[in-house]
Amino acid sequence: MARKTPSLSWLLLSLAFTLLLGHSTTQNDRKTYIVYMGQRQMDEISTASLHTSMLQEVIGSNVGPESLLYSYKRSFNGFAVELTEQEAQKLAGMNGVVSVFPSKKKKLLTTRSWDFIGLPQKVRRRLVENDIIIGVLDTGIWPESKSFSDKGFGPPPRKWRGTCQASINFTCNNKIIGARYYRSSGVFDENNVKSPRDLKGHGTHTASTAAGNFVSGASLLGYGLGTARGGVPSARIAVYKVCWFDDCDDADILAAFDDAIADGVDIISYSIGGEQTLKYFQDVTAIGAFHAMRTGILTSMAAGNKGPGLGTITNVAPWSLSVAATTIDRKYFTQVQLGNKNIYEGISINTFDLKNKQYPIIYGGDAPNTRKGFQSSDSRYCTNNSLDQDLVKGKIVLCDIRTTGAGAFLAGAVGTVMQGQAQQDLATSAPLPASYLRLKDGSKVYSYINSTRGATATIHKSKEGKDKFAPYIASFSSRGPNAITPNILQPDLAAPGVHILAAWPPVSPISTVKGDKRALLYNIDSGTSMACPHATGAAAYIKSFHPTWSPAAIKSALMTTATPMSAKKNYEAEFAYGAGNINPLKALNPGLIYDIGALDYIRFLCGEGYNTKLLHLVAGDNSSCSRATKETVFNLNYPSFAISLSSSRSFSQVYHRTVTNVGSPTSTYKGIVTSTATGLRIKVNPSVLTFTSLGQKLSFALTIEGTPNKDIVSASLVWDDGKFQVRSPIVVAVSTDD
Ligand SMILES: *[C@@H]1O[C@H](CO)[C@@H](O)[C@H](O)[C@H]1NC(C)=O
Ligand SMILES: *[C@@H]1O[C@H](CO)[C@@H](O)[C@H](O)[C@H]1NC(C)=O
Ligand SMILES: *[C@@H]1O[C@H](CO)[C@@H](O)[C@H](O)[C@H]1NC(C)=O
Ligand SMILES: *[C@@H]1O[C@H](CO)[C@@H](O)[C@H](O)[C@H]1NC(C)=O
Repeated sequence: MARKTPSLSWLLLSLAFTLLLGHSTTQNDRKTYIVYMGQRQMDEISTASLHTSMLQEVIGSNVGPESLLYSYKRSFNGFAVELTEQEAQKLAGMNGVVSVFPSKKKKLLTTRSWDFIGLPQKVRRRLVENDIIIGVLDTGIWPESKSFSDKGFGPPPRKWRGTCQASINFTCNNKIIGARYYRSSGVFDENNVKSPRDLKGHGTHTASTAAGNFVSGASLLGYGLGTARGGVPSARIAVYKVCWFDDCDDADILAAFDDAIADGVDIISYSIGGEQTLKYFQDVTAIGAFHAMRTGILTSMAAGNKGPGLGTITNVAPWSLSVAATTIDRKYFTQVQLGNKNIYEGISINTFDLKNKQYPIIYGGDAPNTRKGFQSSDSRYCTNNSLDQDLVKGKIVLCDIRTTGAGAFLAGAVGTVMQGQAQQDLATSAPLPASYLRLKDGSKVYSYINSTRGATATIHKSKEGKDKFAPYIASFSSRGPNAITPNILQPDLAAPGVHILAAWPPVSPISTVKGDKRALLYNIDSGTSMACPHATGAAAYIKSFHPTWSPAAIKSALMTTATPMSAKKNYEAEFAYGAGNINPLKALNPGLIYDIGALDYIRFLCGEGYNTKLLHLVAGDNSSCSRATKETVFNLNYPSFAISLSSSRSFSQVYHRTVTNVGSPTSTYKGIVTSTATGLRIKVNPSVLTFTSLGQKLSFALTIEGTPNKDIVSASLVWDDGKFQVRSPIVVAVSTDD
């Protein structure tokens, strides 16, 4: 899910479902496939009729255009349709087809956060911020929120070509200038209404983080109190609702990209992620972002919530920006006080007040709902329905894992104390009083319960405190290396994604558990989903000052000015935080940029083994793969340097880069390499770059050679002219799985 709500029961349940459903599908069952055909070559009408005729060739002349779930024809070329596996194979062999792959499900992966990264309220802004349009692919939006009021906004910018899809009770305004919804399954119900309206919360939260208005005095019942605002409060929002209560379908996501690009958005915000890392043209995320990039639109993406293991990042396309989640200095802790007066401190956002009253406390494992066939081994985790209501009603329940609190809540418990080994960096809301304790404290609570007749406890309201270790990367944030192209560093950078306060639809319980009656206009949420819109807002802010900059130039500015983070706090180093913590104000004036054009990405793809014919379709031109080799990846003009080695033997690698002067017309930069590695030599040649004009490009080579002395070796290159420091992270990784 969007937010990071760990739940073992859910994992087990989905596994059970996968196993069950795995056997019921047969060869002849049709499922939704996406047929991707690259750049659009003809007008929309011809493109659509091509799709129909291809389908007729495969399925039969009796099928018409109504059989297509989508014809992608506004920004690129392709379609979504239900096919059997054989039909899909046949289509894959047809002329003009780049790839055919099943449409899978993706998941959704939050006032203080902007101050924390140095973008204060009264920052210098350009009037053209008002013309920036942010496309948000998410769960829709709650248009009545103050964060989206259009007071003071004029009509939409003239370049806007989108629409507000007609729906009951939903109107756009001059802030939310467009809204569409996508639902290829065609299933609508009370949760999944035929409207861009957000009943879940995620989309409202992310959109307001990127571009919400200034709203003073916003808080979650007093927590996180301050002025809620987006990175670009004057910008416009275009809503593309692709995620619903049952997640997000690939076919819908691709349709939203097709529209957003054609509608004229400036930046796309994408807090959505898949289960696996997929090859570039088997993944709607990479495909959509590629065509966005070609049109000059940067796609900002959540890195994923599968951390802290290495190699867990799923959104890796180098033409988009992948964003890890850092903590901000705000933390929430919640005390549990036992009948024996002992106090243990856990984490959670507990707005409920038990007024110091002691309640009986029971261990979940001692209260299995045996009538429904549950055993102690289930009820210890307090999963839904596993607890015996008669035994837990009116009591506090101790559970052996962190959950949403739904199980204890549904069973009528007064509160829940959870214990587990997860890092104590993420406080979440439960529908009842709750606190999450470390294992060592939880086991003391257990011993107390086990050894005391009439054991009691109470859970205090949460306290908000300052986390003096911040920023560090949240444990849930997905880590590199990048499984598809290990020699490109991912994630690109980090932005605040923990305990973020932003707008919320009052119809969605803040804990997301049904029955939780707290209907609020602002909520605190966490996830790389919340980090992504911070980067989106920052990118839009830069675009308002530099409207002609390419997506890669904006990305370079954000990366080379990011605040370096410490490997002492995150063992995975660059694989956790990329270039570091985003600094939007500094990114306005990066000095130098590493630019990359569409053709450079194509050449890179050639080097990665994609063939010329396929790339002609993707790019819609005659670019040649002739000079591309496996080495080409090292020469993609990326603002970071990475290499993945399979052993710690001696090696030597050269990288070629070209920087463009956007700082002072005449300037002399010195290349300074800083390295923690003893066994590696890193040289830059030339080590001095002298610019005589703006826009001038100069090239250099960076060589890394030697023998890495650890699994992850961090270094950096800084071009410094005394005024600007243009920093690139360097990382050498040795995988030890052999
Ligand atoms: C448990 O119940 C809650 C409340 O009805 C629901 O939101 C949640 O999805 C359920 N969890 C699982 C794993 O079924
Ligand atoms: C539309 O608004 C009316 C009046 O506010 C409300 O009664 C109704 O439930 C709303 N319908 C939907 C679908 O939200
Ligand atoms: C719980 O109590 C039982 C019976 O007194 C005892 O055997 C067991 O070791 C106790 N467990 C713990 C973890 O204290
Ligand atoms: C590609 O090459 C062909 C033949 O040389 C030419 O007709 C066509 O216009 C070229 N297409 C593009 C997009 O450059």
